[in-house]
Amino acid sequence: MDEKPRRVRAMFARIAPRYDLLNTLLSAGTHKWWRRTALRACRLRPGMTALDVGAGTGDMAIGMARQVGPQGRVIGVDFCEPMLARGQAKLRARGLEGSVLLTGGDAQSLPLRDTSVDAAVMAFVLRNVADVELALCEMARVVRPGGSVVVLELGRPRGALFRAVYETYFHRILPRVAALLSHKDAYTYLPDSVAAFHSPEEVAAMMARAGLEEVRFRLLMGGVATLHVGVAGGPTGRRPGIPR
Ligand SMILES: C[S@@+](CC[C@H](N)C(=O)[O-])C[C@H]1O[C@@H](n2cnc3c(N)ncnc32)[C@H](O)[C@@H]1O
Repeated sequence: MDEKPRRVRAMFARIAPRYDLLNTLLSAGTHKWWRRTALRACRLRPGMTALDVGAGTGDMAIGMARQVGPQGRVIGVDFCEPMLARGQAKLRARGLEGSVLLTGGDAQSLPLRDTSVDAAVMAFVLRNVADVELALCEMARVVRPGGSVVVLELGRPRGALFRAVYETYFHRILPRVAALLSHKDAYTYLPDSVAAFHSPEEVAAMMARAGLEEVRFRLLMGGVATLHVGVAGGPTGRRPGIPR
């Protein structure tokens, strides 16, 4: 495994026990609203099959399981076992082990067949992935034509004043608060990885290159998060191990 994936996986393994608590604390609960918005964009109905890429502690997979109901099926893929173990405990507590399968796997080489799911979501994962375009191609590959590919990611506010205030919080206050409850390095990596990540326009262009159609994005809270949505048109993009 390359250096970045190894570092990312080890970091999430360290923060897994406090991941959910810090999400709620550091986003003042807004991540729940962003997640609901992303889940709506998946256009899932009872009985469908859904995929959560980089499922972590399973919040999106749980939301999808409620949408597809007992006749449906959700698969959550992540390469960090301690994150999945937290997710598995949450599934048990909610009686959802029968409808959600959490399994190990890499976003850049999904362990699923072409066009095998009705929708795929990826929440707060893409900026952690070494080959962003390949991960998008993989989502486009496994979703059936007409199904939604939804990417939720943190971003940088566009308004100058809000951006200045927010970045003071994000770069200076958040890592200090996080250091009291979890691992400071992970919460220094968080703002740094957001700052280094592609703009929403660039991600939209990559989604289109991955073969997705009707690609659009919406800034949430002025750009603190971004929701990207595309419609799968069948597997046309790159395959794992086949460089373009
Ligand atoms: C910030 S967490 C997000 C977890 C979850 N999606 C959520 O909404 O809370 C990022 C997750 O992506 C996973 N991840 C990062 N890169 C990955 C990759 N290449 N393949 C699979 N999982 C990956 C990490 O292990 C971690 O669980």
